[in-house]
Amino acid sequence: MPLSPRAVARRAKKYLREHALDIFLVVQPGLENVARDEIIQHFPNAVQEPGGIALHGDLSAVYELNLCSRFGTRVLIRLATFLAQTYPMLYHHTRRVPWEILLGNSQDVDIRVSFSKSRLRNKAHISSVVLDAISARASDVGLSRGDPTEAGPTRIQARLVRDRCTLSLDATGAHLHKRGYRLATGRAPIRETIAAGILAMARSSDYDVLVDPFCGSGTICIEADLLARNVPPGCLRTFSIESSPLFAPGISAHARRAAAAKLAHSHRQRILGFDIDESVVAIARENAGRARTTMVEFHASDAMSIDYSMLKSPRDRGLIVSNLPYGERLSTKSGAEEIFRRFQHRLGETGSGWDFAVVTTSPDALEDTRLAVRDQIRLVNGGLPVTVIFGHVE
Ligand SMILES: C[S@@+](CC[C@H](N)C(=O)[O-])C[C@H]1O[C@@H](n2cnc3c(N)ncnc32)[C@H](O)[C@@H]1O
Repeated sequence: MPLSPRAVARRAKKYLREHALDIFLVVQPGLENVARDEIIQHFPNAVQEPGGIALHGDLSAVYELNLCSRFGTRVLIRLATFLAQTYPMLYHHTRRVPWEILLGNSQDVDIRVSFSKSRLRNKAHISSVVLDAISARASDVGLSRGDPTEAGPTRIQARLVRDRCTLSLDATGAHLHKRGYRLATGRAPIRETIAAGILAMARSSDYDVLVDPFCGSGTICIEADLLARNVPPGCLRTFSIESSPLFAPGISAHARRAAAAKLAHSHRQRILGFDIDESVVAIARENAGRARTTMVEFHASDAMSIDYSMLKSPRDRGLIVSNLPYGERLSTKSGAEEIFRRFQHRLGETGSGWDFAVVTTSPDALEDTRLAVRDQIRLVNGGLPVTVIFGHVE
């Protein structure tokens, strides 16, 4: 007799009563510090580890991280960590995990394998051993292998580092940068999590006016609006944990209500996006509409003809944040450098008093002495190494 859904739910409840979940927020290199600062505010027990942030909590914490983490990539629930120098060891330990309460009556799983400095290195073999062990556990407790679910396969991560294997349940699904508002893009869009990270590093919410002169599909402006109003970045989407038998529907409603209570209504900013390409400006407007921004305007304009002194009053604090046209992805390298040079001169001529954070593949092309650099960091966007230059126009 297979386990009934009620029996699975009972086991899940018991498991959750008896275990704090070992949760890991995956964060891309370069965003660890802003992610840690954000998470610590909600979860004081969180600790930074290579590749992300670890914490203990319950399912509400898992859901809250999915909903509210602005800079993380995905949320994992670590199920077990063990020594796996041989395939029988891998099988034995994997079979001991209570898969039935994680997967219920469907063992429709997608195993993602990664390894470093480990004896087991055949991805296909590792994956099939993990799958066999999950099936064996399912039949141990009277479950059949089950049919595919409507929600699609549950993603399990098997990560081997120095012969230690960690098995994790992916609680997120599509990457967290997929907020749900950006259904269309121009060329070379910036990841939403990176845009948010740069804005947080530049303390964008402290400014009165924020401008992206090369706004493309509007990501930076939209993220600035969501950040300033404390809108949970995941509010337009769902997460894979919601289809686990572990999950109780009240959790998501409660987390969404709590996030809504923390919306910031007081500070109003002007957020302006410009792009030379009208069709891209139309895309930006559509994305902003889906994101329900309240402070963003987009206009078609050439960044080189904007008079930046006209975009704010002398009293206002102004911040320019932009992802400049890249070499390789948007134009030739020398073309990208030329645009960066012309943009610097335009800023130097008309942008006195503005602070800036620009993303470029050509940091060496920074030459205008009116632009004072405060800091530079390196990140990877869409597989391309980029530099973010933070500074002030004298
Ligand atoms: C790297 S993309 C920006 C991508 C954007 N951050 C996003 O997430 O979609 C650079 C943008 O600069 C625009 N562009 C190129 N030259 C320009 C100029 N002189 N003035 C304004 N926009 C320009 C391009 O049309 C393109 O959309």
